Amino acid sequence: MAALGEQLGRDLDEICDAGLWRELREIESAQATRITFGGREFINFSSNDYLGLAAHPAIGRAACEAVEQFGVGSGASRLICGSLQPHHELEAALAKWFDTGAALVFSTGFAAAQGMLTSLLGQGDVVIIDKKAHASMIDAARLSGVTMRTFRHNDLENLEKVLQWAADRRGRVLVATETVFSMDGSRAPLAGIVELKERYGAWLMLDEAHAVGLYGAHGQGLAAADGLGARIEIRMATLGKAVGAAGGFICGSRQLVDLLVNKARSFIFSTAPSPVVSAAARAGVELIQGAEGEALRGQLWQRVNELRGGVESLGWKTPAEPSAILPLILGGEDKAFAAMERLRKAGFFIPAIRYPTVPRNKARLRVTLTANHTAENIQQLVNALGQAVTC
Ligand SMILES: Cc1ncc(COP(=O)(O)O)c(C=O)c1O
Repeated sequence: MAALGEQLGRDLDEICDAGLWRELREIESAQATRITFGGREFINFSSNDYLGLAAHPAIGRAACEAVEQFGVGSGASRLICGSLQPHHELEAALAKWFDTGAALVFSTGFAAAQGMLTSLLGQGDVVIIDKKAHASMIDAARLSGVTMRTFRHNDLENLEKVLQWAADRRGRVLVATETVFSMDGSRAPLAGIVELKERYGAWLMLDEAHAVGLYGAHGQGLAAADGLGARIEIRMATLGKAVGAAGGFICGSRQLVDLLVNKARSFIFSTAPSPVVSAAARAGVELIQGAEGEALRGQLWQRVNELRGGVESLGWKTPAEPSAILPLILGGEDKAFAAMERLRKAGFFIPAIRYPTVPRNKARLRVTLTANHTAENIQQLVNALGQAVTC
């Protein structure tokens, strides 16, 4: 066997040769529409801080108050002595917001998906996942030991075929999908999915990571906006995007949460989230539901429409329904990378998303908008795209 250093060198060369090298950038400013790194300022079209809450003063204040009362560290896992008041208050706020019996907070959305699927399902059970669903769901399904089947992206006919196949087997059947897809900005056909899972007696888990805060009268996400909230067994999301903090959560029945508390290894064997972050997340949840949240959603959708119109005028195709995520698909990984670099020279921070995050030859620029972008920012971006990127 090769020495570790030698082996790592070969592995890294392989990544480089495939044009898939990634590295971290040190951002020197707060999360905002303008960020600095390498001493230079960029207009940021890459964050998931959709409502601009990550650096919002009210959320910062909630964090400061929590640090005074509870300190920074939680000190233990939730089941030992780390279950602090801010965690419980956040969970109560989430359950009320989603109108579910209960909610449970995890350190990340990734851990929430893992805890959920591995607690509910195991060998002999089936998970049916949209082909474009997030890695957290796919990895969770793999870890749980279920039989995993995918259905074509947002394809109800194909989903029904897989449900028919699953109906002949013994065991539990769960359908799992995102509501707004992170790399495509497409929306799941939720009414059809709910109708099918009910017809075949399956359960449904929705990942609302890119929808919470953005859709519905009080920002409860796409299922609520479509009037389907009460028909969905499991809803999960992250607190690290529109909510402006960090962490993940599951909303569902009291029994579902009791099961997680007793079985979810990513919950049980992990130090509880910082009370500071949970207090900040609760402030985000409250803000989203109030008048300010409503105004921020209005601003965001206005910017989304402006950008869609702008890129369409340059000849780009946009997803059928608007979302805060706009993929500009360029194909080859090198092409996407070069476009990212040209935009960076022009002062824009937009990531090139490449394999394995998206399929090979589907590399893209992923433009994300926030409520704090201005109409002028959008026009600047459209001008830069017109000069630096050909569709
Ligand atoms: C669709 C989706 N689900 C889950 C997650 C994981 O959430 P977290 O970042 O809180 O781990 C993400 C995060 O990037 C996501 O985009």
